[in-house]
Parts: sequence; structure tokens; C-alpha cells
Amino acid sequence: MEKQRRIDVLVIGSANTDMVVCTDHLPRPGETVLGGAFMMNQGGKGANQAVAAARLGAEVGFVCKTGNDMFGIANRQQYAQEGIDTRFIFVDEENPSGIALISVDQRAENTIVVASGANANLLPLDIARAEKVLDECNIILIQLEVPMATVEYVVAEGAKRGKRVVLNPAPAATLSKELLKNLYLITPNETEASLISGIPVSGEEGAWAAARKIREMGVENVVVTLGSHGALIYNDRYEEVIPAYRVEAVDTTAAGDVFNAAVVVALSEGKDLYEAVRFANRASALSVTRMGAQPSAPYRSEVDGFDPK
Ligand code: ATP
Ligand code: RIB
Repeated sequence: MEKQRRIDVLVIGSANTDMVVCTDHLPRPGETVLGGAFMMNQGGKGANQAVAAARLGAEVGFVCKTGNDMFGIANRQQYAQEGIDTRFIFVDEENPSGIALISVDQRAENTIVVASGANANLLPLDIARAEKVLDECNIILIQLEVPMATVEYVVAEGAKRGKRVVLNPAPAATLSKELLKNLYLITPNETEASLISGIPVSGEEGAWAAARKIREMGVENVVVTLGSHGALIYNDRYEEVIPAYRVEAVDTTAAGDVFNAAVVVALSEGKDLYEAVRFANRASALSVTRMGAQPSAPYRSEVDGFDPK
């Protein structure tokens, strides 16, 4: 009989390969700019969160779908090297692996275009095949780079099993009431909070209004990330902004992914949401000081030893 693995954090989501070019400024529509260095990195919101959680010390399971191509093979090898449970990485024989085209400017801002490929074919049927890990895990983390029907299925099945399900609603999309009421925690950035709540968000005041509305819509715990301003927590116990650390940002790609991974790792360790967000601010501050998605995800020893001025 197969030995049961302990899974602290189960991540379900996308796996991409990022093609990154640095540039002085991001091109306007119709403009060609001559960029600088090119990098090919492992990426994808799901994979970034799985890798970041593993580096932060959790036992991680990852459910995703890649193509039957060199990118998919490299993705799987990387996750195995990170110590991630890869039993439920599915291979799509028809669609290529996910690819993201990313430009990063001198102010650390980016634009990202994703060719979803096999990610768009991760179906509820696949999740049903991975039912075992839903039972085994402590907490579930999912994003919106896979089909909405799959996200809704995961959230419903997770809640049915009494698991805490955390949704990082990225990239931005509207969400059903049914989905929201089954979540333990939702972690939108300002754009996502605005779309979900229907309230314009620019700055803290709008973010508070959106957070209140999202809670009214049925989510117990709301964290809105505010980029270099930090993150706000809104639940029964807390109603405050936890400021970000001041660092020299070079690339904010995957800041949100590292933040989410750190929150769920801390929650899986029994920390409360306030401590989890403080920990996540530290981890994501470190990540923005480095280039790339997965290459920027810090190890636990780095976060514990982080001594910002
Ligand atoms: P991205 O799409 O760039 O991955 P996001 O839009 O999902 O990120 P943000 O709100 O930009 O999420 O950032 C997530 C968290 O990362 C913030 O709450 C903060 O803790 C940290 N962070 C982001 N940018 C900075 C920065 N310039 N300096 C310090 N911390 C930052
Ligand atoms: O959140 C960053 C990620 O978004 C990148 O790694 C890219 O692959 C896209 O999925």
C-alpha cells in the first residue's frame, strides 16, 4: 500500500514558462522598443506559489497540467527538485505548456501576456482524479489562471471536506456568490478587489470599502494587497493595514504569488492571520528585490533572517 504523504499546503493552478525582457520603458500600443537582457524563467501563478511555499518550509502538493513538450518536462523536473509532491501533475497530449511573455521596466513595473495552453484544460475531472490530496492536505491555495469551473469545483470540494480554501483571485475576474461563501480567505490586489466588489479602488479608502463589500458577499477573511503600501486585513478580529517593508524593488513579478504562499504556509503552521500577513510582507519584500518569478522566491532562512532597516 502507498504510504500517505503529509501535505501542509495544496496548490492547484497554472504552470508557465516566462519569457522575460527588461526594457527602459514598457511599449505603448504600436510601439517597438529595443530591450535589454532576456531571461527564460519558471513561472505561472500556481507554480510560483507552490515553489515559494516549498522554499518557506511547507510540505507542498501541486496539481496542474502541462503540455507534452520540453517546457512541461522542465516544469516537472523543477518542481520535483523543490521537493514538491508531483503525483498529480497531468500531461495534456493536445495543448502546449503555458507560456508568459513578460516585459519589466526600470521602475520594476511589468506587463504580462499569458498563452494558457494546457492550463486552460485543467478540468474538474482532473481534480476528481486528485481527490486523495484534497483529503490529505491541511490548507488549499488556488488562483484564476485555470478554468473558472475548475476553481468552483475545488472550492466546493475543499469546503465539503472542511478544508480552509484560500483564493488569490488573479488575474482579475468576477466571482459567483456561491464560490465566495465557501472561501476561508480571499487575497485580491486593488484591481481585483475593485472588480469583485464593484467599488472603484484607488488608494486605501477604496480598498477598505471594497474589503467591507467582499465580506458582506460572504467571505470570512479578506486581505487586500496594496503593493509597496503593504496589505490590509479585514475580519472579525482585525481591521488594519500592515505596512510593507521599504526595499529597492527591481521586479515585482510574482510579489503577489510569494505573498500568498507565505500567508498559507504561516496559516498551516497555526499562526493567526495577522502574523501570517506580517510574514508574507517580509517574504514578498525580499522577492521584489530580485528578478524573475520563481528565481525571486526566498527560502525560509532568508525570511527569518531578513533585517530591514
Ligand atoms: P504582482 O501581480 O506584481 O505579483 P500583486 O498585484 O498580486 O503583485 P501587490 O499588491 O503588488 O500584489 O504585492 C503583493 C505584496 O508584495 C504587497 O502586499 C507587499 O507586501 C509586497 N510588495 C509589493 N511591492 C512591493 C514593494 N515595492 N516593496 C515592498 N513590498 C512590496
Ligand atoms: O504572477 C506572475 C506570473 O503570472 C508569471 O510567472 C506569469 O507566468 C503569469 O502567470
